[in-house]
Amino acid sequence: MPRTEFIATGFHVPERIVTNDDLSHMMDTSDEWISQRSGIKTRHWVSDGETGVSLARDAALHALSLAGMQPDALDCIVYCTCTPDHFEPGNGVFLQRELGLTDIPAIDVRNQCSGFIYGLSVADAWIRTGQYQRVLLVGAEVHSRGLDKTTRGRDTAVLFGDGAGAAILGPTDDPRRGVLSTHLYADGRYAEKLWVDGPGLAHDPYVSEEMLRQGKHRAVMEGKEVFKYASVLMPQSVATALEASGLTPGEIKLLVPHQANLRIIEMVQRAIGLRDDQVYANIQKYGNTTAASIPIALHEALCAGRLSRGDLLVLTAFGSGFTWASAAIRW
Ligand code: ACO
Repeated sequence: MPRTEFIATGFHVPERIVTNDDLSHMMDTSDEWISQRSGIKTRHWVSDGETGVSLARDAALHALSLAGMQPDALDCIVYCTCTPDHFEPGNGVFLQRELGLTDIPAIDVRNQCSGFIYGLSVADAWIRTGQYQRVLLVGAEVHSRGLDKTTRGRDTAVLFGDGAGAAILGPTDDPRRGVLSTHLYADGRYAEKLWVDGPGLAHDPYVSEEMLRQGKHRAVMEGKEVFKYASVLMPQSVATALEASGLTPGEIKLLVPHQANLRIIEMVQRAIGLRDDQVYANIQKYGNTTAASIPIALHEALCAGRLSRGDLLVLTAFGSGFTWASAAIRW
């Protein structure tokens, strides 16, 4: 059975940069608070005319051009997002249309910060069994339009940014390379620790003025709980990924963790016992872009020469659900 390789990666973020000082003019917050608690200095927010799908399209075209491929070479789209443009249909079909394609499947993955690794796991299974040969895996988010940009929402509004990352995946017959394993987890007991309650069909009516007044359409989070579980479960998922292939932390060339908070990334690094050069962080520039954070960080790490052919790459993520996941990849 072939393994799955990354043929190319790409990313796209909106031009508009929002600094911590910019946020302090919208709500009661400060650069000092945001930097100390999260490491974030700036994030990118969409402007008029931009959507999750437009960001995803530009990230996909970037990856396709680096792969030397045209969109019609793709035979499947896996689109990971927790901030869809519309309730239905999913963003995957809109991206397919934007790429000028009409007859390939498009699946939407709704696993928040773990979305990209969940999507990778799905794509990897299809590629290994031969169902699809050229899969476009995209993680894209527009958080900024959903944030409560008043002091009421400051604990979440300062953390999230917009962006998209993409990877073109395909089979390799080289037994030394490719995705070694993926590991997916979920625990729905914590679903309300980080969630958007409505609009939703659990409510009748599913949208109401009262719901909007109460701010149920905004993401709310118990930050300390998320922090506590993330800093334990991400290292555990990395340990599982290493054990599955008989590998040790010392063999990791690069860990690309989901970028939720620099302090979480540092705790994960310490728990696994990795050196600074073994971990990639870019949350300082982009904030938390949820399903897009890993592919954006991976692309930047590749451009910075942090990964060479044959190196061991490990991915780990944790987020709303709770869901968490890891992957080990021989580059
Ligand atoms: N600016 C200034 N003050 C603030 C802000 C802000 N933006 N936000 C909250 N505060 C205040 C609080 O009101 C609180 O004030 P009080 O003590 O008077 O009540 C004080 O700062 C401390 O707040 P804490 O919640 O105790 O701060 P904490 O140290 O826990 O840090 C943070 C908060 C940054 C949110 C942290 O808990 C965290 O990063 N958690 C993980 C978040 C995360 O990773 N979320 C994404 C998960 S991934 C996904 O799937 C989307």
